Amino acid sequence: MPLRVRHHVNPFHLRLLDIAPERLVAPVGQDEELQVELGCADAQFLFQLARRDPLGSYVGVEIREPLVDDVNRRAESEGLPNLRALFAHINLDLPRLFAGHRIRRFFINFPDPWFKRAHHNRRIVNPELAELLVSMLIPGGELFFQSDIWDLAIAAMEVFETTAGLENTAGEWSFLKANPYPAISLREERVTEKNLPIWRILYRRVA
Ligand SMILES: C[S@@+](CC[C@H](N)C(=O)[O-])C[C@H]1O[C@@H](n2cnc3c(N)ncnc32)[C@H](O)[C@@H]1O
Repeated sequence: MPLRVRHHVNPFHLRLLDIAPERLVAPVGQDEELQVELGCADAQFLFQLARRDPLGSYVGVEIREPLVDDVNRRAESEGLPNLRALFAHINLDLPRLFAGHRIRRFFINFPDPWFKRAHHNRRIVNPELAELLVSMLIPGGELFFQSDIWDLAIAAMEVFETTAGLENTAGEWSFLKANPYPAISLREERVTEKNLPIWRILYRRVA
């Protein structure tokens, strides 16, 4: 039976401000350095990476709980112990979730639907999140962002360009020409099928 899940949830909903997620206590795969997708939904992107790289450790963070359960069920039934999803709020729970872990990559694929001005404060990418991600990344670690919404992409770029410790791999204020990873998220697939533009940026953590 197809999974029925609400399209969007308001990240300010009281229940979601107090999820108290389970800390990630053990490494997921054999690689101690985690690769984390923020807002993974069905985690198609992570499934593709995890299948190609059985020794890697892939973690999705998602605020819609039924999707998290479904990802974990499918990863288990497919025999992918190197992939796990966590029910958590990106803007509140990351330090607690990943305390003591080393993070090699953060992926932010098509992060949110909040492009109306009235909903700007619901966006996940803001200066506080950027500083936190930099502090969690290992030196040389990567922060990837992609969106089909120009306003979101340029706003994210402005945040990352002005965050200390990040270097744009394509050159300052420049977008990538293509997705550098061997994986495509579901939203990316849909946008690509419609031949619509996608704006992608990749930053590296520098000293
Ligand atoms: C447009 S979907 C994109 C899903 C997937 N990354 C893709 O590219 O197909 C954005 C996802 O981020 C999740 N999300 C939005 N705000 C979040 C938050 N504050 N914490 C955790 N997940 C969040 C949404 O529930 C949704 O599943």
